[in-house]
Amino acid sequence: MSPTTLLAIETSCDETAAAVAVDPGAELPAPEVRSSVVASQVEIHREWGGVVPELASRQHLRDLCGVVERALADARIGWADLDAIAVTQGPGLVGSLLVGVAFAKSLALALGRPLVAVNHLAGHIESLFLCQPDLPLPAVVLVVSGGHSSLYHLPDASTYHLVGRTRDDAAGEAFDKVAKLLGLAYPGGPVIDRLARAGDEQAMRFPVARMTHPARAPGAPTVRPPGFPLSPGRLDFCFSGLKTSVARHVQRHEAAHSRPLNKQELADVCASFQRAVVDALLDRTFEAARRFGAASVGIAGGVSANSRLRDVATAGGDERGLPVVFPTLHLSTDNAAMIAAAGLRQLRVGATASRELKALPTLPLDAGGAA
Ligand code: KG4
Ligand code: ZN
Repeated sequence: MSPTTLLAIETSCDETAAAVAVDPGAELPAPEVRSSVVASQVEIHREWGGVVPELASRQHLRDLCGVVERALADARIGWADLDAIAVTQGPGLVGSLLVGVAFAKSLALALGRPLVAVNHLAGHIESLFLCQPDLPLPAVVLVVSGGHSSLYHLPDASTYHLVGRTRDDAAGEAFDKVAKLLGLAYPGGPVIDRLARAGDEQAMRFPVARMTHPARAPGAPTVRPPGFPLSPGRLDFCFSGLKTSVARHVQRHEAAHSRPLNKQELADVCASFQRAVVDALLDRTFEAARRFGAASVGIAGGVSANSRLRDVATAGGDERGLPVVFPTLHLSTDNAAMIAAAGLRQLRVGATASRELKALPTLPLDAGGAA
């Protein structure tokens, strides 16, 4: 197999990203990332306290050509050197996805090259293989971001069984909403992570629900991999009650003291909230690893940048003799290098997309992951 050079485009939310990666064509799929460019829109959305979909898609339109040209220049290649184009098809914001999908379809058509449709969540999972190509399998992978908190069982590197998911808010969404109610800047995750370092994580005991019944909330059903009986919902998450407890605590405090939280109290709330989220995420993740006899645990997506999550997960893995793998910080949040790696994996098995490809904002990730 000769080397394959692929350009990937990612515009599912509020980062415009492009990357060039090369599949060396060797036995082991270990792609080499030649460039990875991310234009963040965070300054635009911060003013509004969250991502404004219409502003996001307009900004992708402005930035995408420049980001792609920069990715080619950084990789020291031209258009003619590209063998394939990959693009995030979903899930994400439909207007944002449409910009990337339309661009990638046009480029593939103009160059006469194959188009590969990548699931954004498969991209986050692939970020783990980029950092550790020989990730021990079977693995249990937690994808935890602003839009998703999902647990997958991976019997091999390209088969994904959804075994747990959030019933309401994603963990990153909970970080962002709690930060907003505490008057902190968007995105809230990194701010809470920083402030929590000066706080006492045992100061408040915020409750986190543990699901013991089948899901009533609509959403992708979780599956039982063959041979693994599961009580439905036991590996699901639920974060909206936690957010309400934090809001009540702040209201009660302000009513009792006639003043907002001071610096130390704010740090204590951040640390206690973060502990509750991290404990819930890791409780289900290690439970899934035990049930499925996982040889490793992977944690990917924007929230995987959280310092407490990294520390506690690593310690929990050491206790259990289980390797716990995180992507580098650059690969944790949205980027196109992970989309390129997932695209190359699909290209190896000939999973290309039609020229009629459509953006799918609620695209699920299940066995295979190819769109
Ligand atoms: O993966 P990502 O960049 O975009 C989505 O696909 O959603 O994740 C963004 C999310 C945001 O909710 C942000 O607050 C959260 O990741 N995040 C963090 C940290 N860094 C980013 N959450 C907790 N701690 C962090 N250090
Ligand atoms: Zn993401």
